[in-house]
Amino acid sequence: MKRTVFSLAYLLLACAASGREPKTDFGIRQQDDAAMKWFQDAKFGMFVHWGLYAVPAQGEWYLEQSAMSLDAYRKFAFDQGDGVYFDAKNFDPTAWAQLAKAAGMKYICLTARHHDGFALFDSHFTNAFTSVQTLHRDLYAEYVKAVRAAGLRVGLYFSPIDWRYPGYYDVTGTNCADNGWHYQTAAWHKENADVMKNEVYEQVRTLFKNYGPFDYVFWDGSWLAQRGSDRDGAYFWEPGKYRDSANAWPVTAANSDSDASGRPLGLMGIARKYSPQVISNARSGWIGDFDSAEGDSEVKGPVRPNPWEKCLNLNRVTWGYNARQNLMTEAQLTRYLVDVVVRGGNMLLNVGPDRHGTIPETHAALLWHFGAWLTKVGDSIYGTRGGPWNPVDGQYGFTYKPGKYFIHILPGYVGTEIAIPAIKEKVTGCFDLYLRQPLNFVQQPDGTVRLTGLNRDAHNADTVVSVVTDGSSL
Ligand code: GLC
Repeated sequence: MKRTVFSLAYLLLACAASGREPKTDFGIRQQDDAAMKWFQDAKFGMFVHWGLYAVPAQGEWYLEQSAMSLDAYRKFAFDQGDGVYFDAKNFDPTAWAQLAKAAGMKYICLTARHHDGFALFDSHFTNAFTSVQTLHRDLYAEYVKAVRAAGLRVGLYFSPIDWRYPGYYDVTGTNCADNGWHYQTAAWHKENADVMKNEVYEQVRTLFKNYGPFDYVFWDGSWLAQRGSDRDGAYFWEPGKYRDSANAWPVTAANSDSDASGRPLGLMGIARKYSPQVISNARSGWIGDFDSAEGDSEVKGPVRPNPWEKCLNLNRVTWGYNARQNLMTEAQLTRYLVDVVVRGGNMLLNVGPDRHGTIPETHAALLWHFGAWLTKVGDSIYGTRGGPWNPVDGQYGFTYKPGKYFIHILPGYVGTEIAIPAIKEKVTGCFDLYLRQPLNFVQQPDGTVRLTGLNRDAHNADTVVSVVTDGSSL
């Protein structure tokens, strides 16, 4: 209910600001509180970028950055006699799921296809290039099955943009953007872009129809030709509930899907037709059920009012496997997670398995270790909400759940005492959650609570205090 009111208010505000009528498309933000709740309770998920780009081992943008020929790129999928190709021979999604669980993650999101267009699932579109063709393996089916069996929520990542199509750089056929392949403006690009869009529609329908239901979808990159914002590409992709049958880039009957009344569905319409509970990020050009923040910039400011998610990379270099490694430290990882949860967000942490499907040892070890800490302080993370008081950047912040408040104290805060603002409930105990030890506290008549004797050394990256009360007024 709250979300309905919020969504309406948001729409009215957005429309007032833009002076436009609301589009019906935007009316389908997830209205089911349970679908949002699992996500907001989960807090921590695993992002996995895995595809052909693992072969050159320089990140997932390799095709674009090298502007190599598409034929040469396709060869990464086949043994050229040297044994160096995308063989997926160690791909064990059950092991990935076990690692995610050990790390304290509650959902996984694997790239079904990235901007290079290589699909890990079974698509029969004319131009589709898939692992079923190259390895006779439906890697995505294996992934979905294993993640479900492990009891984790299943996320789908899908990139609408596709560098294999010259039309991607020139959807109107009148204005080709700069590109490494030196494609020039050409009228046929418009049709080429239309084929690209048709492939997206066929594949999104295939994924949602045959692999779902999905709990979560991460659309990536609705921009066109690497220009503008995700929202700027929406006229082309039609990411909302419905498509316009008069759109200049039509989707053929064979590749499209419709609602019960025969109205053609847009990308989210297809997603929700088959996965009514699915929640979506905000990167398709559609508004999204939750806000998205990408990259490793510092997380600052007050508690955010909307559900949101920050995605970032364990190996800071690239999302896809990279021979170069610059791993985040455990202290940095802790800092990001704390900064996110005290502001009401989730963290989606990326790993990039190699061409065999192996998540590098050092990455896995870090995740196991981090998970061991989370097991101890998980009460202060999972199922909480950020607040009820705003954090102080770089020093501390709060989470809460019925009957409990938690203080996350960062290394930037000096001292062994801290206070929390007035609360109505009576505090019955305060604990160092990591050490499982009671702490001294005094609750003043005005409800404020002062804690003393904090041990700041036992786990300096985040000293977690649990404040237990005799009830919940929140
Ligand atoms: C960007 C990049 C992409 C990566 C994504 C992760 O959109 O283009 O490579 O997959 O961020 O959020």
